[in-house]
Amino acid sequence: MAKLAIIGGTGLTQLSDLTIIKRDKLTTPYGAPSADFITGEFNHKEVIFLARHGNPHTIAPHKINYRANIWGLKQLGVEHIVAVAAVGGITAEMVPAHIAIPDQIIDYTHSRLHTFFEDENYPVTHIDFSYPYNQKLRAALIIAASHANISISPMGTYGCTQGPRLETAAEINRMEKDGCNVVGMTGMPEAGLAKELEMDYAAISVIANWAAGKTEGEITMADIEHNLHAGMANTALLLKAFIDLA
Ligand code: HPA
Repeated sequence: MAKLAIIGGTGLTQLSDLTIIKRDKLTTPYGAPSADFITGEFNHKEVIFLARHGNPHTIAPHKINYRANIWGLKQLGVEHIVAVAAVGGITAEMVPAHIAIPDQIIDYTHSRLHTFFEDENYPVTHIDFSYPYNQKLRAALIIAASHANISISPMGTYGCTQGPRLETAAEINRMEKDGCNVVGMTGMPEAGLAKELEMDYAAISVIANWAAGKTEGEITMADIEHNLHAGMANTALLLKAFIDLA
């Protein structure tokens, strides 16, 4: 099995059932990664786990050092990345606690350090990004979901916003017109950086809330946490099935 990393987002700061083998505290040419890289056994297979927002969860989406995180995983020999992230649901099927395996991205972020290709170490290169997620990894996650009896959306466009504030209702309407199904804050530049370093990357989007304006009233952290709890339980089952089949 290719060396696998799981990047955990909000609601997945620690991978329970991971038997820790070692922790790597890496320094990188890009600064400090979000946390130690934890190598452990998950479901009898070796995986590397990284908490995207740090452990404890303290780093805001726009402050995450995505380059250090992806570069560190590459140094550790990782070839496959499964990135777990909480999202808001925009289209009707993206109900809270549901899971989607997105196949496309629209990047609405700005002013993030988003590329390795800007100096003599990595001279400018325009990577192909037509299909931002690795199709084989996506297919493996979709098959794993059916083995684990978890109903998921096997496609979807992930719109990545800058945060840390949530969106306005008008922004979400625009994103829906653009074709976005879910909205999150961390999918980019993470996916692009993984592609730049030729690592296979796929995402599990866990719907935490209805996106702004899609439901009455305000979006509360309490609701988000409640829905994430259910969504993350299924995410853990999905990851186990994925590893079983790998
Ligand atoms: N918007 C952006 N990111 C999110 C949301 C949202 O509604 N929910 C969880 N992450």
